[in-house]
Amino acid sequence: MKKITIAIDGFSSTGKSTIAKQLAKKLNYVYVDTGAMYRAVALFVLNNGLINEAGEVKNLVEKLPEITLNFKLNEETGNADTYLNGENVEKEIRTLRVSNVVSMVAAISEVRKKLVEQQKKMGAEKGVVMDGRDIGTVVFPDAELKLFMTASAKTRAHRRYKELVDRGEEVTFDAVLKNVQERDHLDSNREDSPLIQAETAIEFDNSDMGLKEQFERIYNFALRIIEKQ
Ligand code: DC
Repeated sequence: MKKITIAIDGFSSTGKSTIAKQLAKKLNYVYVDTGAMYRAVALFVLNNGLINEAGEVKNLVEKLPEITLNFKLNEETGNADTYLNGENVEKEIRTLRVSNVVSMVAAISEVRKKLVEQQKKMGAEKGVVMDGRDIGTVVFPDAELKLFMTASAKTRAHRRYKELVDRGEEVTFDAVLKNVQERDHLDSNREDSPLIQAETAIEFDNSDMGLKEQFERIYNFALRIIEKQ
C-alpha cells in the first residue's frame, strides 16, 4: 500500500502532537513536531541574548547558519527528542519561558524559510505525520490528509496548565491562558504563513472529545485515504 502525507495544523494546545504521535506509531510513519523546531530556535535566541530591551529579536538572521536541529529517538519514552546543536533540549523547549517568545521568532520569514526547507526534506518520501501551523498550506499543500484542529481557548489553556504543573513548573492558570490567547493572535495574524485552515482540510473541534474517540475518528479518515492509493 502506498504511503501518504498527513498534515495536522491548528491552534496551540489542541492536542495535535498527541494524535499525530499515535497516528504515526499505528501506521508505522515518521512523526515530525515542527513546533519543536520553532521552539528550539526560540531557545537559541534566549540563550544567546538576542532579545533587546524593547523585547524585539535582534541579529538572529545572520546567526541562522549556526543553528542545527535534529530529532533522535529516546529509547526510554519511545518518542523523538529535539536536539539543538547536538544538545538534547526536549525539556527546555516546553517551558513557558520559551512559549512566551516562540511566536515572535516564528514570525521571522528567514526562520520559516530555513525550517520549512528542512521539513520538506524530512517528509520527501511520504509516510510522515507532521504537525504545526502551516503544514497543509505551505510545507505540504498536496498532503493527502489535512486536519485542522480547534478547541476553545479555555479548554486548551486547562490542558496546557495541567501539563506544565505535572512537569513541575510553577505557573498560574491565568498566565497560561494569556499565553495561549497571545499566541493564537500572533500565529493567526503574522504576515508570513499565518495559521489558517487549508481549503481542503477537515476541521476537527475536540473541545468535548476524549483522546480515544479522536484517535479512532482520525485513524479512520487516514485508512479510507490509504486504501484508495
Ligand atoms: O505547536 P507548538 O505550540 O509547539 O508551536 C510553537 C510555536 O511555533 C507556535 O506558537 C507557532 C509556531 N509554529 C509555527 O509558526 N509554524 C509551525 N509549523 C509550527 C509552530
